[in-house]
Amino acid sequence: MYPVWGVRKDLSWCIMEKDGEIRSEANETNCFFCGHCIAVCPTDSLLHHGLDMKAFTPIEKPVAFKEEEFFRFLRERRSHRSYLKKKIPQEVLEKLVEACRYAPTGSNKQKTHLLILQNEQTISKLSSMTIQYIERVNGLVERKMKKLSAEGKEDSDLYRDSIYALSAGTGVVDRAKAGLDPIFFWAPAVFIFHSDSKRFGTPHDDCVIAAQTITLYARTLGLESCYIGAFMAAAFYDPSVMEEIHLPPKHQVYSVLTLGYPGQTYLKDVDRKPLTVRWE
Ligand SMILES: Cc1cc2nc3c(=O)[nH]c(=O)nc-3n(C[C@H](O)[C@H](O)[C@H](O)COP(=O)(O)O)c2cc1C
Repeated sequence: MYPVWGVRKDLSWCIMEKDGEIRSEANETNCFFCGHCIAVCPTDSLLHHGLDMKAFTPIEKPVAFKEEEFFRFLRERRSHRSYLKKKIPQEVLEKLVEACRYAPTGSNKQKTHLLILQNEQTISKLSSMTIQYIERVNGLVERKMKKLSAEGKEDSDLYRDSIYALSAGTGVVDRAKAGLDPIFFWAPAVFIFHSDSKRFGTPHDDCVIAAQTITLYARTLGLESCYIGAFMAAAFYDPSVMEEIHLPPKHQVYSVLTLGYPGQTYLKDVDRKPLTVRWE
């Protein structure tokens, strides 16, 4: 008898094969409800009291993408910072939410929350608050650079990183002064992924995976997106930003996306640095 895949018997469940028979040992009281036991049973012999048995839909023929096309689809995903002034219909937003439900979560906790902003005033206010936060950070970076300079540490990574951070931060503030929205780019929708930061599991990973799932699926609906780390930082460091979005207690923002119909088309792919891989 050998496990069909690496499952430990002392954990909640185990599916094994012996002499062509699949055997399952399941403990409903110590189960994280992934539904694998039901999904692999060829004879529909299992009943799980904690799961909606009607919600298991048969997979007649697994979807098969052409490898090169799917790879191109991944490569053609780019950050979009220009959107058409066109609302995303509610049914399309609901499709995105639906896709998000199927993103994997650590221990199958399924505790990712989503705040979808579409109100222009709210988005604009959060954009302004993020810019104010960046202005404060710019001030801190300038002070740090003066100190490093006085200590003769201009030839250090910290100094070089500070030059980069200050230039990026100043660029954002300048674009805001020029009347642009350098945070959310006047996107018709902003998706804020959040979860209880104190809970057991992997709230951060769960939110990022949900966001990436939406990013890719959105492309099939003609939508494009951009991650907005700037707002995440503002929400993390500035309590007044968190107050503005009224998340449940102990929740943290773990990923943010702008979404909309693209206002520009990328005509070329871009190359990337080789990945550092260790083969063993
Ligand atoms: C976690 C994360 C945070 C990001 N934050 C921002 C941001 O605040 N503002 C922005 O314009 N782009 C942001 N980006 C987009 C990156 O700049 C972009 O992904 C990168 O330059 C590569 O370009 P591409 O996405 O078009 O391939 C972020 C991307 C990631 C993955």
